[in-house]
Amino acid sequence: MANKSVWSDNRFWQRSATWVTGFAAVLLIWLTFDTMGQISMGTDADLQNGVTKRVPAPTVINYKITYEMSTKRGHEVPVIGAKEKFFGRDNYSEKEAGALLHLGKLGSQAKNCMDCHTLLGNGAYYAPDLTKAWLDPAWGPEGSMQAMTGKNTKEEAMAEFLQHPDRYPTHARMMPDLGITADEAKGLVAFLKHMSSIDTNGFPRNFGKMKGAIHAK
Ligand code: HEC
Repeated sequence: MANKSVWSDNRFWQRSATWVTGFAAVLLIWLTFDTMGQISMGTDADLQNGVTKRVPAPTVINYKITYEMSTKRGHEVPVIGAKEKFFGRDNYSEKEAGALLHLGKLGSQAKNCMDCHTLLGNGAYYAPDLTKAWLDPAWGPEGSMQAMTGKNTKEEAMAEFLQHPDRYPTHARMMPDLGITADEAKGLVAFLKHMSSIDTNGFPRNFGKMKGAIHAK
């Protein structure tokens, strides 16, 4: 008995199992609470006070969003800037912005964008990743989409494209006309703008480096 090795002692293994299980349970509970804090949506007051939240309030559509390299984190992060007009307004209330986002979310589900695109890591890669589509330079003043659609703003160009993608083919692969109405398109663009403001730890990778990402595939 005196010479019995600790490795063949049942009590040693039982205790180890208890400690490992206990430690893992505490760790998982802690991680759950940490994640809840990270993914819960901010408020309009946060935006007004410049408080950075990973998931900003729907009223982020009232602001300009840019994608900037963070040398500290080693990838791009969305930066919420000054007020910016969205379909002519920069004063959407939380309720109005929330309703637009909701409409866009329902539209994205009804028309099944994920069949072809990826949103926040879910979906397909037949068509470009939509997580940061709002930040695609192709839609900006230097891009080709505003001239192509005959619109003067990013949001109008995108809404026009969504209603008639077959008229503005930019890829070898074409997005089909999904019968999206003007209202649905507005909601979808709000949904995409909000999504682009979510801090996704630089996912999808290398998005910011793809100049004119819409043409880069
Ligand atoms: C049947 C496949 C398919 C479905 C479904 C689809 N798309 Fe597309 N989409 C494409 C393809 C292919 C392209 C690239 C072609 C192009 O840009 O002309 C594209 C391009 C886009 C772009 C431009 C991408 C960029 O980088 O700026 C946006 C925005 C977009 N789709 C939004 C949507 C939304 C929103 C939905 C759902 C309501 C949707 N798509 C559903 C195939 C699809």
